[in-house]
Amino acid sequence: MSAQTRLVQDFAVPQIEFALVSKKYQRLIIDNLNFAVAKGEFLSIIGPSGCGKSTVLKLISGLATATSGSILVDGMTPENARETISFIFQDPTLLPWRTVRANAVLGLELERMPKEKREIRVDSLLELVGLSHMSRAYPRELSGGMKMRLSIARALVTGPRLLLMDEPFAALDEMTRDRMNEELLRLRDELKWTVAFVTHSVSEAVFLSTRILVLAPSPGRIHADLPVNLPNPRTAELRATLEFEQTVTAVSRILRGARSA
Ligand SMILES: Nc1ncnc2c1ncn2[C@@H]1O[C@H](COP(=O)(O)OP(=O)(O)OP(=O)(O)O)[C@@H](O)[C@H]1O
Ligand SMILES: [Mg+2]
Repeated sequence: MSAQTRLVQDFAVPQIEFALVSKKYQRLIIDNLNFAVAKGEFLSIIGPSGCGKSTVLKLISGLATATSGSILVDGMTPENARETISFIFQDPTLLPWRTVRANAVLGLELERMPKEKREIRVDSLLELVGLSHMSRAYPRELSGGMKMRLSIARALVTGPRLLLMDEPFAALDEMTRDRMNEELLRLRDELKWTVAFVTHSVSEAVFLSTRILVLAPSPGRIHADLPVNLPNPRTAELRATLEFEQTVTAVSRILRGARSA
């Protein structure tokens, strides 16, 4: 098989595939969700509070199991795909008694990677997220943006191919959030993950995504599946363009429609 054929086949397996997926707790939360995410896509999921966005990420990661239907990640069950996936939450949940470096290295300690190899990997990751100069500091000494960078470094340390992010920048001020968005895209260009990203900010979703899934509530279902055809690479200047503003307005209107759907 040629490298080209292998590449085509590799891309042909979707990174995430939901077929008729429903999730019930006391009541039906997710109803018959069907969608596939190709490798390299940046998918944002938006929708009213309680419509099931976090539940969708939990289902992808295997933290929750579907009541019916099938979920494949990289062609495997979520349980078997665990090594492929990293989950980043809104709350960085850093270990306060460990330094920045020791927090970042945690995933590799759990994997029992040899110390020397581990040190090199962590050094280059801290460099990548701009935290080398803080490696001996403790979480309490970090700003909100730095804590989130550390949380990202910790998630990247095991070399995931799929990143799940649940409102990771919601607690940050707008300027820091914008900067984190730009940094996230820069890292993604370098490390080539597929991303499923949950946010309440339409402009954040538009800036980051190749595609936006809008969920309607009660029960959670797909209201709209929107490609975002803005130029790449996305830079800070994009936010000031008419094209960006018009896209945000259009997506906001569709989101309002989902609330009353
Ligand atoms: N473990 C659970 N047990 C029972 N109900 C749950 C559980 N997890 C979520 N739910 C319910 O499922 C629904 C969807 O929750 P989910 O957290 O996925 O919503 P969301 O879209 O992420 O909301 P938000 O925007 O507020 O974060 C809610 O009604 C919630 O109460
Ligand atoms: Mg949520």
